Amino acid sequence: MNLRKCGLLMALSGTCLLAATPAEIETKINALISRMTIEEKLGQMSQSSFPKGLPDRARGEIRGGRWGSFFNGGTPQEKAEAQRIAIHESRLGIPIIYGQDVIHGFHTVFPIPLGQSASWDPELVRQAARIAAREASAVGIHWTFAPMMDIARDPRWGRIAESLGEDPYLAGVLAAAMVSGFQGEALDAPDSIAACGKHYVGYGAAEAGRDYNTTWIPETLLRDVYLRPFQMARKAGAATFMSAFNALNGVPASGNGFTLRHVLRDEWGFDGFVVSDYTAITEMIAHGHASDAQDAALKGIRAGVDMEMVSTNYYDNGKALIDARVLDPKLIDQAVRNILRVKFRLGLFDNRPQPASTPAEQPSREALEIARRLATESLVLLKDRNGVLPLAKSVGKVAVIGPLADSPTDQMGTWAMEANRSAVRTPLAAMRQKLGENRVVQAAGLKTSRDTGSTGFAAAVDAARAADVAVLFLGEESSLSGEASSRSMLDLPGAQEDLAREVAKVGKPVIAVILAGRPLTFHNLAEQVNAVLYAWHPGAMGGPAICDVLFGDAVPSGRLTATFPRTVGQAPIYYNHMSTGRPAAESGAEANNKFTSKYLDVSFTPEYPFGFGLSYTAFEYSNVRLSSPRIRIGEKLAVRADIANTGKYEADEVVQLYTRQLAASLTRPVRELRSFRRIHLHPGEKKEVLFELSTDDLAFYREGGELTIEPGAFHLWVAPDSASGQRAEFWVVR
Ligand code: NOJ
Repeated sequence: MNLRKCGLLMALSGTCLLAATPAEIETKINALISRMTIEEKLGQMSQSSFPKGLPDRARGEIRGGRWGSFFNGGTPQEKAEAQRIAIHESRLGIPIIYGQDVIHGFHTVFPIPLGQSASWDPELVRQAARIAAREASAVGIHWTFAPMMDIARDPRWGRIAESLGEDPYLAGVLAAAMVSGFQGEALDAPDSIAACGKHYVGYGAAEAGRDYNTTWIPETLLRDVYLRPFQMARKAGAATFMSAFNALNGVPASGNGFTLRHVLRDEWGFDGFVVSDYTAITEMIAHGHASDAQDAALKGIRAGVDMEMVSTNYYDNGKALIDARVLDPKLIDQAVRNILRVKFRLGLFDNRPQPASTPAEQPSREALEIARRLATESLVLLKDRNGVLPLAKSVGKVAVIGPLADSPTDQMGTWAMEANRSAVRTPLAAMRQKLGENRVVQAAGLKTSRDTGSTGFAAAVDAARAADVAVLFLGEESSLSGEASSRSMLDLPGAQEDLAREVAKVGKPVIAVILAGRPLTFHNLAEQVNAVLYAWHPGAMGGPAICDVLFGDAVPSGRLTATFPRTVGQAPIYYNHMSTGRPAAESGAEANNKFTSKYLDVSFTPEYPFGFGLSYTAFEYSNVRLSSPRIRIGEKLAVRADIANTGKYEADEVVQLYTRQLAASLTRPVRELRSFRRIHLHPGEKKEVLFELSTDDLAFYREGGELTIEPGAFHLWVAPDSASGQRAEFWVVR
C-alpha cells in the first residue's frame, strides 16, 4: 500500500497500515518460512489450473496449504471462496496467487501482440495493458502470463502472433511498456497485476518453426538478441518470469541453471519468482534430460524454477529428495522466499480485495477507444497501386467479400478466452455503419479461411459486379496461429486465392485486407489487387479501425515488425542478419554474380522488409547530420535529420535509426535498430528529429558474457524501414 492511498485511508478511518519496507517484507518471509512444514513449502511451489467448481477435495487441499497458486479458471465467487479458505482456514494463512493468460486484453480485446508491435507506440501499448489489468483485477486475477517477448525469425512458428516482433530492442521497449501497464504505479494497488516475462528463453528459435522444437543459440547471439528484451523487462520491474518449454543448447530452458540462475538472478539481480511453463518440469523426461519424476523435480529446483505449473513433481518428490540429502533444503527455502516476496508485493497479505461479484463485462468507452486507436495504428499498408486508397466516401456501393469480414472470433486472434464478444465490431458491421446498409453488398465466398469449396464464388462475383469497389477480407482464422499452430506453408489457406482471382476478373478495383497471426506469403494475390492492407488479428475494434483507414478517416501508420518472406523457403528470414563473405547484391555488376549468398529460384530479399509500411502521404528524409564524425567510448552522438510531409495528408511517420559496425572481432549484423520515433506531420510540414546515440547502444557480447564496445567505423541510417534510408558514417575511438 502506498502513502497516497494511506492518506485517504487515514482520512476515512483514522488508521493507516503503512506499506512494509523491503526489509520488513524479508523479516515477515523469514518468520513464515521458519514455521512452514516441508509440505507447506512444496505447496507454495505448486500451481494448478483452478479446480473446476471448487469441490470439497480442493477445499481440503487449500486448507492444507497444498497449492500456492491457481490459474485460468474459476468464477470470481469461487476464487474469493478459495482465497477465504487459504487465508482464514489454512494453518499459516498464506494467500493464493491467481494467474491467467491476459495476453492482449481481457474483456476488451486489443490487437494480437504482433499487431500491437506494428504500432511502434509504447505509450498506447502501455495503456492497453493498463486496461487489461483493470479488467482482470476486477475479477480477482493477480498475475498475467504476459508479456511474451520471444524473438521469432520464422513465421512458420504459430506463436509469432504472440510476439512483439523480430527486433530485440523494439520487443524490449514494448515489453517494458506492457510491464508498466500491467503493474501500474504500485503492484499492491487493487487494479495492478503482476507481469510475467515469457518464455525464458529461446523458445522463438524453434528449429524449422515447429512449436516446442529444440533450439540452438550460441551464447553471444543469446545475449545480443534473445535475452535482451527479457533484460529490458526485468529493468522495467517484471515481477515474475516463465521458463520455456524448449531445450536450449541441449539443456531444457526449465532446467537451465545458466539462464535461470547465472543470468537472471546473479547478473540481473532478479528477486521475484520463476514459474515453469505448463508441465515443462515433467517434459524434461521426454527431452531426455531427466530420468524420472524425481530427477525432473531435482533439476527444475536446482536450476531455479520456483513454481511448477500443472505437473506435480516438486510436491510428489521434494521431501524424498531432501530426506535422501540429494536436494539442499536451502534451495526450497529460496524458491518459497521468492514466491512469498511477490505475494507480499502484491499486497495479498494486506487485505488486497478479492472481488466476489462479476462486474459489468462491457468494455468501457475508454477501453474501446484505446482498442480502436491501437488497431488503427497497427494496420500496415503494403500496397496502394495508383493511390486507389483511401476510398472516397462518395463511392457508390462496396462489396464486402471473404471469410473474415464478419467473424468476431477470428478477428480477435489467439488467447481471447475472456473476451466480451458482444463488444466486437466486425469489418462488415463497421462498413454498414459507415455507409448505410444499402450501400454494402456482402458475400462471404468461403465459409472459413480454410474452406476449399467454390460454391460461394458465384455470389461473391455477383456482389463485386453490383458494387463499385470490392474489399476482400482474407487471411488466417484465429486457430491457425498461437500455441501449437505452426504451419509449413505460409500461403493463404483454402481457396482464398481462387476466390480473389474470380473477384478480380470482374474488373472493379479490389482491396485485400489480410487478417492473420503471422506474416503470410501472397505475392500472386498482391499482383491481382489494387491495394493490400495488413490487419493482423486486430481485436474487438478491428472493424471500425479498418474502415477508418480504408476511407481516409485515419492514415495508415503501422510498420512491419517481422520480415515478410517471398516464399516459405526463405525462412528463417530477418533484417538484422550477418553479411556473409559473399553478400548478394540487388543491382550493379555483383547482381549477376552467381557465387553469392542467394537462391536460384527466388530473390534473396524479402517481399516486405522489417520496418516497412506505406502511408497515404509521402515523407521525405534529408539532411542527416551528426554532432561529430567521431566519438569516444562513453560519449554520446547526436543524430539529426529532417523529415518532411510532401503529400496531401496529415499523418504519422515512424522514423527509424539503424547502425552497422563495419568490422569487429565478431561479425556484426548488417543493420540494428537503435531507436525510433513516431512523429506527426501536417502536409507541407518539416520536422527535425533528434536521436541521442550512446556508445553503450553499440555494445555487443563476446563469448563468456563480456559486454564490449569495440572502436571502429560505423554506418548509420535514419530510415523509413530497414532496407532504405539516409546514410551517414561515424567512428568510435578510444
Ligand atoms: C502454455 C503456454 O506456453 C504459456 O504461454 C501459457 O502461459 C501457459 N500454457 C498457461 O496457459
